[in-house]
Amino acid sequence: MTRILVLHGPNLNLLGAREPEHYGSATLDEINASLREVADNADCRLEAKQSNAEHELVQFVQEAVSQKVDFILLNPAAFTHTSVALRDAIAASGIPFIEVHLSNIHKREEFRRHSYFSDIAQGVISGLGVHGYISALYTAIAILKENRRES
Ligand code: DQA
Repeated sequence: MTRILVLHGPNLNLLGAREPEHYGSATLDEINASLREVADNADCRLEAKQSNAEHELVQFVQEAVSQKVDFILLNPAAFTHTSVALRDAIAASGIPFIEVHLSNIHKREEFRRHSYFSDIAQGVISGLGVHGYISALYTAIAILKENRRES
C-alpha cells in the first residue's frame, strides 16, 4: 500500500489558536483528519507527525526510509528558514516531497522568503491555507500513480 507521511514542524501544534490571520482557524487535528479522509478514499496509508524539536523531525525522516514511505508532505514551519540538518535528512532520504506552507511566505517578513527546502522539493505550495495541504496530497497521489504506471 502507498505510504504518505505528513510532517509538521514547530508551533504547528498550536494551529487554531496561533495567529489565525496568518494560519487560519483549523486545528492540526482537523487538518490531519481532512488529509486522512482523502488518503483513505485513495487507498493510501497516511501518517501525520508533528514536532517542535529539530532532531525529532530529522529522526522521523530517517525512519521514513526504513518504513518505505513513498512521499512526504512537509511543512518545516520556522525550520524552513534555518535548518540545514532537516534539509540534509530529507535530501539523504531520497523520498520525494512537497513543501507546504499555510501562509504565503513571500508576502511576509523578508527572512521568511528563503527556504532551505524549495530547491530540492518536487514543488512548493504557499499561502493557500488548509487547501494547500489537500492539494499537495492530491498531487502526491497523482504523481505516485503516474510513476507506478511508468515503471
Ligand atoms: C509556515 C511559515 C513559516 O514562516 C512559519 O515559521 C511557520 C509556518 C506556514 O505554514 O505558513 O511556523 O511554515
